[in-house]
Amino acid sequence: MRVLAIETSCDETGVAVYSPAEGLLADALYSQVDLHRVYGGVVPEIASRDHVKRVIPLVNDCLQEAGVDPGTLGGVGYTAGPGLAGALLIGAAAARGLALGWSIPSLGLHHMEGHLLSPLLEPEPPAFPFVALLVSGGHTLLVDVKGLGRYQLLGASLDDAVGEAFDKTAKLLGLPYPGGPALAELADRGRADRFPMPRPMTNRPGLDFSFSGLKTHAITTWRQSGQGDRDAADLAASFQQAVVDTLRIKCQRAMRQTGRSTLVVSGGVSANRKLRERLRQTGDADGWSVHFPRLAFSTDNGAMMALVGALRLAAGERDNGEIDVRSRWSLESLKEPAP
Ligand code: KG4
Ligand code: ZN
Repeated sequence: MRVLAIETSCDETGVAVYSPAEGLLADALYSQVDLHRVYGGVVPEIASRDHVKRVIPLVNDCLQEAGVDPGTLGGVGYTAGPGLAGALLIGAAAARGLALGWSIPSLGLHHMEGHLLSPLLEPEPPAFPFVALLVSGGHTLLVDVKGLGRYQLLGASLDDAVGEAFDKTAKLLGLPYPGGPALAELADRGRADRFPMPRPMTNRPGLDFSFSGLKTHAITTWRQSGQGDRDAADLAASFQQAVVDTLRIKCQRAMRQTGRSTLVVSGGVSANRKLRERLRQTGDADGWSVHFPRLAFSTDNGAMMALVGALRLAAGERDNGEIDVRSRWSLESLKEPAP
């Protein structure tokens, strides 16, 4: 079954066509980063207005690239949450309107399930069961994954998400939005052992995270430093190392606790090179394998939503007739498709 999906949960308009039998047939993305940069972060109303402009041209590009007649699609998926309510409504309205016009079903999808399953788009996909570390701008989750819709939360951030901590620390250092990749780049030129940083919540049992203290620590350290270029690079490197170490310790703990042999790491922060290197080394040493999405599918994209849409639509799931988007939506509340 070929499925087209639309992702508009934040500041990227993503559209893709995927089929479990044929793989990814088309994928298009428009990033609004340049529009939001002047404001230092995503402005929800600007995001919604831009999704309106981009979504239909991207759908047309994808259909052309895939060479697919829309009437032959098995359905249209769209991100129904979590995310910015206005932005989600644009994708939902577009998807539902197209599906109605094409006389095919539509289905609202969970953005974090898209991230969670994004490594399944790779040539050597991980097999269930696995542990997933989901690290994005809004979420930091460790999840035990037994299959599609079979998710048990192992741990979550009690305050800031890890991407948010990256972004806020980057802002402190005067780096442009989006801060995460800019901070990682600056960290390459710095010394990670210059500023001692905490590894929050690693010295007590459990799999929850907390990143707001680390961010505050970075702010204090910055104010007490000379605030020169050298200081900024060293602080970026020290901060990144503390985050990577913290995530590594919690992943090791989750793998030990569950006895799983596969770790999946996805979401925007999974694009971080140091995090990838460190988790690969740890997996090699501890005897588990680690899977990431390709870099382009670490951050928000339509391909991961088309994959989830194809799996769920093929299992018979359908929208119930109402447009229902949710800015907050727990991953654990998702269900396995009915047999
Ligand atoms: O998954 P995503 O694109 O959007 C959400 O669902 O939130 O994640 C965006 C987050 C941002 O906080 C961004 O700064 C962070 O991922 N990010 C990175 C890197 N690339 C993106 N953080 C650290 N290192 C990177 N290379
Ligand atoms: Zn995301």
